[in-house]
Amino acid sequence: MNPDEVLKQTYEQVPYVSHPHELSNPARFSVVGRLFSLHCPRVKSARVLELGCAGGGNLNPLAYSYPHASFVGVDFAQSHIKTATADAETLGLKNIEYKLADFRSLGNELGKFDYVIAHGLFSWISTEAQTALLKFVSDSLKPEGVAYLSYNIYPGWANHEQIRNLMRFHVTEAVDAATLINSAREIVEFVSNAVPQSHSAHASTLADMQAMIAKTKGRQLLHDHLEVHNNPVYFFEFANKAAAQGLKYVGDALFGTMNSVELSAEVREKLQEYSGGHIIRTEQYLDFIRNRSFRQTLLCLKDHKLNRSVHPSTVYQCDIATQLRADGGKLDMTEGVPVDFSLPGARAKVTVSSALAKQILKNLEAAWPTATSFSALASSVKQSLGDSEDIEEQISAIVLELYSKAVLMLFSAGPKLEITYGSAPRPFAPGKLYAAKQQSTVNAYHQAVALNDFNRAVLALLDGQRTIEQIATELTGKATPDKGSLKDAVAAAVEKLYSYALIEG
Ligand SMILES: C[S@@+](CC[C@H](N)C(=O)[O-])C[C@H]1O[C@@H](n2cnc3c(N)ncnc32)[C@H](O)[C@@H]1O
Repeated sequence: MNPDEVLKQTYEQVPYVSHPHELSNPARFSVVGRLFSLHCPRVKSARVLELGCAGGGNLNPLAYSYPHASFVGVDFAQSHIKTATADAETLGLKNIEYKLADFRSLGNELGKFDYVIAHGLFSWISTEAQTALLKFVSDSLKPEGVAYLSYNIYPGWANHEQIRNLMRFHVTEAVDAATLINSAREIVEFVSNAVPQSHSAHASTLADMQAMIAKTKGRQLLHDHLEVHNNPVYFFEFANKAAAQGLKYVGDALFGTMNSVELSAEVREKLQEYSGGHIIRTEQYLDFIRNRSFRQTLLCLKDHKLNRSVHPSTVYQCDIATQLRADGGKLDMTEGVPVDFSLPGARAKVTVSSALAKQILKNLEAAWPTATSFSALASSVKQSLGDSEDIEEQISAIVLELYSKAVLMLFSAGPKLEITYGSAPRPFAPGKLYAAKQQSTVNAYHQAVALNDFNRAVLALLDGQRTIEQIATELTGKATPDKGSLKDAVAAAVEKLYSYALIEG
C-alpha cells in the first residue's frame, strides 16, 4: 500500500475525534483580515469550505450558528463523512453538505468560497499533497476570500519530531492501534527515565515531551504524532509555498502573536533591523525566539494590497465578548486603581487601571453570554461615564489592546444568545449533541468546553420543554456535586451551563 492509502486506512480504522477549533471560525478570523484592510465577505451569508473536516465536529456547529451561510465539508475517510452527515441530520442542518473525496481528485465542481478552512491538514500530508492543497485553496477562493490553515512548524516541532522518530523506530512491526499506542508511550517513558539527570537540557526536554505524550489521548497520539505523514515546515517555507500558488500571508488567527510586546524595546528594534520590516521575516524570527510549534495562518489571493497599520476604528463593526472577570469579584472603579482580571481557569490575566477600561469590562460581563456590538457597548459605557468627544476612539483602542492580548474576542458576527433563560431552558443544540458523544463539547462561541458528569447529565435533559423541577425528578438518585438538594444542584448546573454559553435562552 502506498503511504497515502495507509493514511486513509488508519483514519478508517480509528476515526479522528473532531473538535471545534475556536479560531477557525470565519466570524473570528475575518476580523484579522479587516484589521489589515481586507474587505472580508459577510460571514452570515458566506460560502464556507472545510478540507479534511473529519467527523464534522468543527463544521456542524458553525453551520448551526450561521444558518444563512452555506457549508461544504470534504474528507477522504468514509467513516468521517458518515459521522459528519449523521450529526448534521440530527441537528436538522439544511445548509451543509459533506463530500467524500480526496481533495486532490477535485476539480472546480465545488465552486468558489468566501472562506476556506483546513485545520491540522497541511503538516499531516505528503509534501506533494501540501503543494496540491495550497493550489486547491488558491483555486477555491473568491476574490475577497480568506483561507485559514493550521499546521505544525519548526523550530518548536523539532522536539516533538524527535519523540515521533523514537516511537516509530521502536514500533517497527505492523500491530493493532492499541498495541502501537501502548508501545509508543512505553518507549518514551523508558528513554525519558534513562537519560542521566546530568544531561540536564536533554533530560528536561524529554521529561516535557513524556508528560505531553502521557496526556495525549490514544487516537490523537496515533494520528497527530505517529501517522505515516508528518511534515512540519518553517513559517518562511510555508509562506514561499503559498506564494508559489498565488496566495499571500494576511496574518495570524491568533492576532496577538503578531505583536511582540513581551520583548524589550531594544530586542524589537534589532528585530526590525534584521527583518528589514519584512512581515514574513519578522514572523520567522519571532518563531525562533518563541520556539513556536504551531501556526494558524490566514491567506488571501496574492493581488490584495494589505495595510498593516491597524486602525482601531475597524472595531466599530465588530461584536465583542470576553470572559474576563475581576479577581475575587472586587471591582474598584476608581481611576488609576489597578484591578486584576482573569479568564476562567486562570488561562490569562491582565491588570487594568483606567476607569474606562474597567467600565468596558464591567459592561461586557453584564452582557455575557451574549456578544455586544461596538455601538451597544459604546452607548452603555457613555450612560455610565458620560459622553466625551473622542470616547469611541478611546473605547476601540482599549478593546483592541485587550484583543491583542487574547483576552477578548472580536467577531464580525458574534453569537446572539438571550440575556437570560426561561423556566424551561433551551440548550445550544450542537453543545448538547457533542456532550452526549465526546468528552468535551462546543459552545455558542465555538469553544471547546469540558463538563463534569452532573452538568453533562443536566445538559442531556434540557430541551426547552423540561423545567428545572422536572429535570431534578428525572435525575432522582443521581449523586449531586454538592450536599444540597437535587433541585438546587440542577439549578446551579443550569446556571453554569448558561455561563458556558451552552444555553440559548
Ligand atoms: C489530522 S486530521 C485533522 C482533522 C480535523 N481537521 C481536525 O483538526 O480536527 C486530518 C484529516 O484530514 C483528512 N485527510 C487527509 N488527507 C486527505 C486528503 N488527501 N483528502 C481529503 N481528506 C484528507 C483525514 O481523513 C482527517 O480527517
